[in-house]
Amino acid sequence: MGAEREGRLSGRRAVVTGAASGIGRAIAARYAEEGARLVTLDLDADAPSDGEAVAGHLSVDVTDAAGVAGAIGDAVGLLGGLDVVVNNAGIPMTGTVRDLGEEDWHRAIDTDLTSVFLVSRAAWPHLEAAGGGAIVNTASIAGMVGTAGQAAYATAKAGVVMLTKCMALDGAATGVRVNAVSPGFVATPMLERWLQGQDDPSAARAGVVAMHPLGRLGEPADIADAFVYLASDEARWVTGTILTVDGGFGAGAH
Ligand code: NAI
Repeated sequence: MGAEREGRLSGRRAVVTGAASGIGRAIAARYAEEGARLVTLDLDADAPSDGEAVAGHLSVDVTDAAGVAGAIGDAVGLLGGLDVVVNNAGIPMTGTVRDLGEEDWHRAIDTDLTSVFLVSRAAWPHLEAAGGGAIVNTASIAGMVGTAGQAAYATAKAGVVMLTKCMALDGAATGVRVNAVSPGFVATPMLERWLQGQDDPSAARAGVVAMHPLGRLGEPADIADAFVYLASDEARWVTGTILTVDGGFGAGAH
């Protein structure tokens, strides 16, 4: 009947990065279900299709400051303002300090950490203009506890954890809430590619599952639900929080 959809994010105007695949794709789908209007951003030009809820899909590299500024400006134009930003685009990077090339180090830090700064900086005045809003970042269990062979990725994600807390303090006076979701291992194309690169992929998969007391890998939807909560009014008194969604991974020592 053309009536606006009611949901936990009704009327919210949201940008989701890394929305063409995996966790970001699930976030975009859940936000649409909950009544948000979205612009999705990804390197990949193929948009996830969520019908009318998606006002546009923009192909952008989140490590490119000028590209990000342009895309956020375009998104605000398409949506008529901005209330929610999800910083989810990211890449894996395996390697120890002994093995990593400088290019790989910088690529991980740029994509997994600096992008959060660039997108948030471009979005910030628009969130303030809307009277406040919510930024939700994708951290990782790898940014909370040390992980062998993940020096660049884990350091970038630890940076996301601290950047989340600093931005939360900086945004509090103007009603910009900033939180992060810290997933355990989630069954996405990223994880699949990583498993396939291991010497024995099926043993690696079993090993990863065994790290999660709830006995399975996460599904993108398990993570997306936490992003709905943190962007919604239910989280109106929540800022600077790292919400762990990890099947119990972080509850004990491994
Ligand atoms: P994915 O590879 O399925 O999706 C990532 C998306 O980000 C892709 O669509 C890709 O095109 C996009 N992207 C990558 N670099 C980009 C760039 N420079 N500019 C714009 N878009 C770019 O990966 P997945 O698993 O869905 O990961 C999403 C986020 O979740 C990442 O930040 C990742 O580090 C994080 N994460 C994933 C976990 C997992 O087990 N899958 C665990 C914990 C965190």
